[in-house]
Amino acid sequence: MTSRLDGPLKVTGRAKYGLDHNLPGMTYGYLVLSTIAHGEIEAMDVTAARNAPGVLAVYSPFDPLPLKTASSPLFGETAVPLQDTEIAYYGQAIGFVVAETFEQARDAAMLVEVTYRERHALTSLEEGLAAAEDAPPARDGAPPTLDILAPGVESIEDALAASPVVVEATYHTATQNHAAMEPHSAVAVWESGELTIYSGNQASDLQAVELASALGLEVSSVHAVNPFVGGAFGGKGRTSAPAFLAAAAARALDRPVKAALTREQVFTATAGRAATVQKITLGADTGGTLIALRHDSWCTTGMDRSFVEPTSHGTSREYYATQNLAISQKIVPLNVPPTTFMRAPGEAPGSFALESAIDELAIALRMDPIELRLRNNSTGPAGKDLEWSSKHLDECFRIGAERFGWADRSPDGRRDGDWLVGVGVASALFPALRFPATVGITLRADDTAVVGTSGADPGTGLLTVLSLVGGESLDIPPERIEPRLGDSSLPSGGLSGGSTATASAGTAIMAATTNAIDELLALAAGPFDGAEVAYADGRVHGGGRSMTFGEVLRATGRTELSVTGSSAPGEELTKHAFSSFGAQFCEVRVHQWTREVRVSRMLGVFDAGRIINEKAARSQITGGMIWGVSAALHEGLDIEASGRLANADFASYLLPVNADIPEIDVHFVEYPDTLHNAVGARGLGEIGIVGMAAAVANAIHNATGIRARRLPITIEDLL
Ligand code: MOS
Repeated sequence: MTSRLDGPLKVTGRAKYGLDHNLPGMTYGYLVLSTIAHGEIEAMDVTAARNAPGVLAVYSPFDPLPLKTASSPLFGETAVPLQDTEIAYYGQAIGFVVAETFEQARDAAMLVEVTYRERHALTSLEEGLAAAEDAPPARDGAPPTLDILAPGVESIEDALAASPVVVEATYHTATQNHAAMEPHSAVAVWESGELTIYSGNQASDLQAVELASALGLEVSSVHAVNPFVGGAFGGKGRTSAPAFLAAAAARALDRPVKAALTREQVFTATAGRAATVQKITLGADTGGTLIALRHDSWCTTGMDRSFVEPTSHGTSREYYATQNLAISQKIVPLNVPPTTFMRAPGEAPGSFALESAIDELAIALRMDPIELRLRNNSTGPAGKDLEWSSKHLDECFRIGAERFGWADRSPDGRRDGDWLVGVGVASALFPALRFPATVGITLRADDTAVVGTSGADPGTGLLTVLSLVGGESLDIPPERIEPRLGDSSLPSGGLSGGSTATASAGTAIMAATTNAIDELLALAAGPFDGAEVAYADGRVHGGGRSMTFGEVLRATGRTELSVTGSSAPGEELTKHAFSSFGAQFCEVRVHQWTREVRVSRMLGVFDAGRIINEKAARSQITGGMIWGVSAALHEGLDIEASGRLANADFASYLLPVNADIPEIDVHFVEYPDTLHNAVGARGLGEIGIVGMAAAVANAIHNATGIRARRLPITIEDLL
C-alpha cells in the first residue's frame, strides 16, 4: 500500500495547478458564449466592451485570433474557437475578452451585443432519431455494422427466429457532462517566439503538438506544463478552448494571459458524453446458451460529428460467446455541445443496455443471472481468431458471490419494514490497451534516479507508479526515485487515457532500465579493472566486490548517466486479445411508498492483471463504481428545446454525495498478464464504471419487479 506522492501537496493546497501560475504583467481572458443553438452571427457590437475599464482586446469571429484547425496523430483534427460565424450549439465560444483583471474581463464580456440569424435547432434525441431515419453510420473507418453468423445461418433475424427464448428491449442513457473538479483553464506566456502553457491535460506532449499545429509553430517551440491536473476522465484529452485562446491572445498582446471556464461554461464550452438509445435482442436455448445477440445503437453527436460513443462495438463482441452476432452503430447529430471521450466511452452506457438485457433473459429463463453469464463466458472477442491472454471472470463472480452473500438472494427480493430490498449483478469488461511511450532514466551520483515521461497524472496515481515501477526495475527502494511527469520537454510518454498509462509507461521504464544498466556496466569496466560485472540490488558486482551505481559514476568522474527506453504495442496483438474483467454487485433499498432508491451495498471484484499499487487501484475502481451509481440514479443533462441546458450547474446537475454512497468493497484477483506487457498490469482506470449502472437497475428490478430501461432512474419510473 503506497499513498500517492502528490497526495499531501494536493490536500494542503501546495500543489500548483495550471491556473495557479502567476506571472508579471498577467492579463485575464473571459469567454463569451452563444445564446442560441443554431444559426449565424450577423453582427457583434463590441464597442462598449472595448471601451470598458481595463479591456485590452475583444476577439470574435469578425476579429478572430489567428488559429488553424489543430491536429495530432492520436485525435486527428480538433476545432479551434472563434473561426467562423456559424453557431452549432448553445454555449459555443463566440468571443474572448482580455483585460487587466478577471473582473474587468467578465464585466466587459457582458457588454458584448450579438445579433443572430437564428435557425431551427435540432436538440431532442427523439426528433433527431426521426430526422436520422437513414442515420449516418459511425465515424469514418469504423465499421457501421458487423455480422457474424454461424455456418448455414442466413441472417441474424433467422438466428433469432430459431431461438426458443427471445428477449428484446430498448434502453436509453442520458447526456453527461464532464464535471472534473478543475475547470478547463490555461496560463500562456511567450518568450522569444516560444510558448509556455500551463494547462491541465492528459498528455503534455500531445497538448504541445495540438497547440503547435494551431499556432503554426514547430512542436519544439511549445512547452506544455501540467504537473497537477484536477481530474480529466477523457475531458482533457484534447486541448481546451481557453488554452487555444490564451495562447493566441498572449502572442497577439505580447503579455501573459490567464483564462478559465466558469463552472457553468464547462457544461457547454467543452464536450460531454452522448445520450444513447440501444436496442438489444437476445436469443437463447432453454438451457441458457446464447444463440444470437443483436445490438443496435444510436448516439448523439454535435453537428461536427467528431466523436461516436461506441456502445455496440465496444461491448457486444467482447462479452459473450455467441455464434450469431449483429451490431450496428449510428449517430444522431444534434445542435448540442460536441461529444467526446468520457470514462469507459462505449462500455459505460453499452454495458447498461447489454447487462440489463442479460438480466432480463435470466428472468425469462428462471435462471440465476451469474450462472447465465458464466454459461456464455467468452474465450475471446467474437469474430476474431484470438483468445483472451488471461481471463478470470468466473473467479471474480465466485469470490464476489461469496463476499456479497449472493446465495441468500431471492428471485423476488425481500422486505425490510417499508423498504424493498434487492440485489443485482453485472459483468464488467474493458479492453487492455497500450500506447507507444518513451521514458527517460537518469542515474545520479548520489544514488538516486530520475524517471520521467511527458504524460500527465490526472489524479490516477501515475506519478507514484513511475516511482514504484522505477524502483522495482532498478532494484532500489522507490524513495530513491524522483518521478517526473506532466512536462512536454520530457521524453514523449503515452496518454493518461484509455486505461493505458501504467502498462505503457511501465513497460518503457523496464526498457529504459535495461539501457541504463548496459551503459552503467560498460562504464564499470574501469573501476572493476575489466572484471566481469553484473547489476543487482542497485549495485554493480564483479571481481569479488561491489559498488553502488552512484559510486561507479563518481569513480568515473560522472555526475549522472541518462538514457531513454521505449515501448509500443507489437507482436503480442497477433497472438492474443487483451481485456480486464470484473463482476459488479449491488444491493438497493427502494422505499415502498416514496419509491426513493438508496444503494446500500456495493462490491466489485476485478481481474486487471498485476496490481502495482493497491491503494491507488482501489481508488480508481471506487471512483468508477460511484460514477456508475451516478449514471444510474443521478446524472443527466436536461436540454431545452432551445438547446439551452436547463441544469448546467452543480445545484441542478445531480452528482452523488457521501450520503448517497455506502461502503464500497473492492477486491482484485491478481494474475499478472505478462503476455500483454512485461510489467503484467492491465488497465483498471475505466472498468470500475462499467456494468455498475446495470447492477443498480438489476437490483431495483429484484427489489420491485420494475424494469427501468432509461437512465437516470427516477422516482417517477418506479411508481
Ligand atoms: Mo479516458 S475516457 O480514456 O480519458
